[in-house]
Amino acid sequence: MKNEKPRALYYADYIQIDRLLGSQQLQSALHGRPAHDEMLFIIVHQAYELWFKQILWELDAVLAAFRSSPVPEEEVGRAVLHCGRIVEIQRVLIQQVDVLETMTPLDFLDFRDDLIPASGIQSVQFRLIENKLGMRRRDRLQPHDAPYTSRFREEDAARVEASEKEPSLFDLIEVWLERTPFLNFGDFDFWREYRRAVDAMLTADRASIRSNPTLTEDEKATQLAGVEATARRFADLFEQEAGEPLQVAASGRHFSRRALQAALLINLYRDEPILHLPFRLLALLTDIERNFTTWRQRHAQMAMRMIGTRIGTGGTSGHEYLDRTAERHKVFADLSALSSFFIPRSALPRLPPDVRSRMGFRFQTPR
Ligand code: HEM
Repeated sequence: MKNEKPRALYYADYIQIDRLLGSQQLQSALHGRPAHDEMLFIIVHQAYELWFKQILWELDAVLAAFRSSPVPEEEVGRAVLHCGRIVEIQRVLIQQVDVLETMTPLDFLDFRDDLIPASGIQSVQFRLIENKLGMRRRDRLQPHDAPYTSRFREEDAARVEASEKEPSLFDLIEVWLERTPFLNFGDFDFWREYRRAVDAMLTADRASIRSNPTLTEDEKATQLAGVEATARRFADLFEQEAGEPLQVAASGRHFSRRALQAALLINLYRDEPILHLPFRLLALLTDIERNFTTWRQRHAQMAMRMIGTRIGTGGTSGHEYLDRTAERHKVFADLSALSSFFIPRSALPRLPPDVRSRMGFRFQTPR
């Protein structure tokens, strides 16, 4: 028809509100005894899945950027924004446990058996996030003596397994770190200088304790034992085989030696303008890891509160399995553990002027 006005975009159509609000199917109602709290249970799970989708959206953007070699500088800034968003979403996810915990264990029992054998263990998006971050099959707990994808439908298992074959964020960050140019720069050898600085720092620490007139002999002995423990940790680091990755955390994946040295350099010299964004990115990766672990712990506590020592609807040992994943399912643990090897700014080796000038941003007014 002539002169018909195009239909204006309508809020409900734009966000597909009918589909969204029509997607809560209570199993208890299907079984003829509707349980009030099942609505909350479904909505909370759906909210999680929506946020998982957004996390994957951000993660995919970071992965795409870091596939370039070299990674363009502006992409590092964008990755910092994407990762910062993931961290904030994770905070919401952790808090959301409180909302679900307004349901009492007895109210959960009204519909829990209707859910068997469905379980969060079948969340495809959760596994995709883990795999894209860098979780490897061999580092996973195997709750059923079967592959971790065994509880998925075939097409879902295929999707999750395909994600294992792509370079993960861990892999791409490792390669990016290995390319850090300042580890060896002209005569400057970061590892040699760092080692010297550590030795000098420990010698100064010992001397200052011994000459401190306010300490008793016992106090001196205790503090000196503390310095020796630190010295042993550093010695372990320096004596690890040259060809092997440097291991600083007990669990999780280990970066190559060069990548870990670069992560240390970036942290120690983060005040240099060129290293500031890389530093923020590494800090966000440790935040993402920590938030993941916090969520796992909160979820394990919630499971304990709701089902005690019963097995899960997905057939694992329940709380015990979840607790162990919180301890073991880690990717960037080395980055978090790196702070044991930080040394004060005052003890840091001074960078040669040509290295510093390459690290700085300079703006010259055109003449
Ligand atoms: C009453 C609340 C909940 C209880 C009692 C509970 C219990 C469990 C249990 C026992 C498991 C282990 C697998 C199994 O044997 O079933 C599990 C796994 C899982 N649940 Fe929950 N859950 C609850 C809520 C949630 C929510 C709201 C989410 C959000 C998506 C969620 C996501 C997951 C995920 C992703 C796993 C797999 C964890 C892994 O294997 O590392 N759960 N849950």
